[in-house]
Amino acid sequence: MAKMWDARFSKAENPRVNDFNSSISFDSRMYREDIEGSVAHAAMLGKCGIISKEDSSKIVSELESILNDLESGTLPVDPEAEDIHMFIEQVLTERLGDVGKRLHTARSRNDQVALDIRLYIKKEIESVLALAEELIKTIADIAEANTDTVMPGYTHLQRAQPVTFAHYVLAYAFMFMRDYDRLTETEIRTSVSPLGSGALATTTYPIDREMVAEELGLYGITQNSIDGVSDRDFLIEFAFDLSLIMMHLSRFSEEIILWSSSEFAYVELDDAYSTGSSIMPQKKNPDIAELVRGKTARIYGDLNTLLVMMKGLPLAYNKDMQEDKEAVFDAIDNSKMCLELFCSMIRTMKVNRNRMRKAAASGFINATDCADYLVRKGMPFRDAYKISGKLVSYCLGKQTDLELLSLDEYRQFSDLFEADIYDAINLDNCVNRRNVPGGPSKTSVEYQLSQVRSFLAEKQNEEAENK
Ligand code: ARG
Repeated sequence: MAKMWDARFSKAENPRVNDFNSSISFDSRMYREDIEGSVAHAAMLGKCGIISKEDSSKIVSELESILNDLESGTLPVDPEAEDIHMFIEQVLTERLGDVGKRLHTARSRNDQVALDIRLYIKKEIESVLALAEELIKTIADIAEANTDTVMPGYTHLQRAQPVTFAHYVLAYAFMFMRDYDRLTETEIRTSVSPLGSGALATTTYPIDREMVAEELGLYGITQNSIDGVSDRDFLIEFAFDLSLIMMHLSRFSEEIILWSSSEFAYVELDDAYSTGSSIMPQKKNPDIAELVRGKTARIYGDLNTLLVMMKGLPLAYNKDMQEDKEAVFDAIDNSKMCLELFCSMIRTMKVNRNRMRKAAASGFINATDCADYLVRKGMPFRDAYKISGKLVSYCLGKQTDLELLSLDEYRQFSDLFEADIYDAINLDNCVNRRNVPGGPSKTSVEYQLSQVRSFLAEKQNEEAENK
């Protein structure tokens, strides 16, 4: 296909150069956004009298037919075209002749591509938001069913203090809620129109940039034309938002991997969301969780690609920036897949409450509560801490637990101990006495859960309003 810019050149392009230069193999996924942008641009050109009303409507309706033909598959994308922008303009010109050639008036591919990628990202942010919402809801459901499921909480991966499974998973719900909010903020910064920036210095035609932005449902226009075509910060921000989501998913995955081992056996993954081994018949592997953890690396890689690609670029557009697309598309595709599968995996996993409780009952995770008991009886905390530590050491020697010591044994360590010590170190009491905002007690956790539920309800309302 002859190049549209083939005017000042006296030699044909080397075919390897075309392969190297071309982005159609990955940017054709933006065909809808490209057409949307061109439709708004053509309508504006007509309205402002830059092209005739008649030409403007011919272009708009032909662009709509091209869209239909692409969607139905009757118009295959030409892999030899340089990029999706050139391809669509080429088809338009083939179909409309001179009228088609008027579309690119007052526009450059630089502002065109900057607009297309913004429109594309905006749609993808919406679909990531929907997946994140589903995940938060799934976590809330798991929490609701487990407000009484006592388990050990860990620090340094050593049993530390008793919490409940509800309390534990809600920690992740709050992380994903912040991720959600971050995405909505990125969406606001993404939703402005750079169209009209031209190659970098706008145009001499009396265009109406605001009209284009409005037509496209964007909040406004970029305020400086050099900035409009030069930056990809919104896209890097999106890749960062995805990286954080992946970091949270990856940590959660790591726990699922540990918890589904026989050593923990806190959860059992559904057969539909685990895989077997080709040699060891007994195996049931948490591949999804492992792949989520693994794919986190490549999404960090995509973010890094974008950051490094941009770091030394002089203003304004440089071809290096064509490299933005594969990186951000890879980050989008993979994080969406991870969100979706991770969500179904945890929705279907079985929670082994007995195993969690058993683990909570050994490992002296009520040793702090034993010390707090002495403090309530008047002892300074540091002394109480020592006595509780000695009791733990005594239990370890006898291979027993704090719950199983006799009152006489307790009183060998301090005569402040009375029969109510058993109540004080009872696991459920240890949890429910931590009734501070944010804590593991049932009332505390129910309040946290209600916050998550109202977050979800708010999002539902916003979605309904936007429809
Ligand atoms: N395919 C290019 C990209 O993705 C489109 C913009 C090209 N502009 C130019 N002046 N060569 O960035």
